[in-house]
Amino acid sequence: MEFVIRPTLAEVSSTVADIVEGYVRRGPTTLGLATGSSPLGSYQELARRHRESGLDFSQAQAFLLDEYVGLPRSHDQSYFSVIRSEFVDYVNLDTERVHSPDGESSDVAAEGERYDAAIAEAGGVDVQLLGIGTDGHIGFNEPGSSLTSRTRVKTLTEQTILDNARFFGSVDDVPHHVLTQGLGTIGEARHLVMIAFGEGKAEAIAAAAEGPLTAFCPASVIQLHRHVTVVIDEAAASKLQLLDYYRYALDHKPPWQAF
Ligand code: GLP
Repeated sequence: MEFVIRPTLAEVSSTVADIVEGYVRRGPTTLGLATGSSPLGSYQELARRHRESGLDFSQAQAFLLDEYVGLPRSHDQSYFSVIRSEFVDYVNLDTERVHSPDGESSDVAAEGERYDAAIAEAGGVDVQLLGIGTDGHIGFNEPGSSLTSRTRVKTLTEQTILDNARFFGSVDDVPHHVLTQGLGTIGEARHLVMIAFGEGKAEAIAAAAEGPLTAFCPASVIQLHRHVTVVIDEAAASKLQLLDYYRYALDHKPPWQAF
């Protein structure tokens, strides 16, 4: 696990954009995209690089982490729509190659299996962006999620429903069920990039990175992964016990070692 602690959100976003740009420039790549506010700055920075420096996404494809069950894709808060309005519409990533679980499927149980198979058929995800919920969820894997889970239906916690109510007209409009890549599915991506900013995420980041490996904090599953980069601001890093060491390691990173 590598920690990149940056003073501002703009620098967090720029570091994440550097990592994604590296994959995109190497040729055909499969991106794992996340919704939520954490990756937004990174998406804006990638869109700027596309516009101003010709960063070319034409050979990329993407898979989303999760989707609300029962919300039509045309709804502005479906993750199908959000990822387009926040990112895909501003770069030359073929919208047909931006995949997400179908929350309108008549057989949501089978939809999870279909989605995992589609990811595998695409050769797996090269780099997966991840936000983190205040309760330590990633994707929509709420506390108690099996550490080896596959894409499936989950029930949101009251806290997540409240957290996400800001995107809907009222808390009553937030769906209670979701389809989410499982923790096992996410762990198959070759590189995980966790993004967080703000004091509100400090406890979740500390629990994920330094706490016990436990389904109680689903994000702690990153401890099992061989290639994780945690890109966070000072506030989100403030509860890490080994903060000084992480800073030292980054400052003394050998020049040949990439993220
Ligand atoms: C939602 C998403 C997650 C995201 C989390 C945190 O629940 N399903 O993928 O990580 O919110 O969101 P934010 O980045 O807005 O704090």
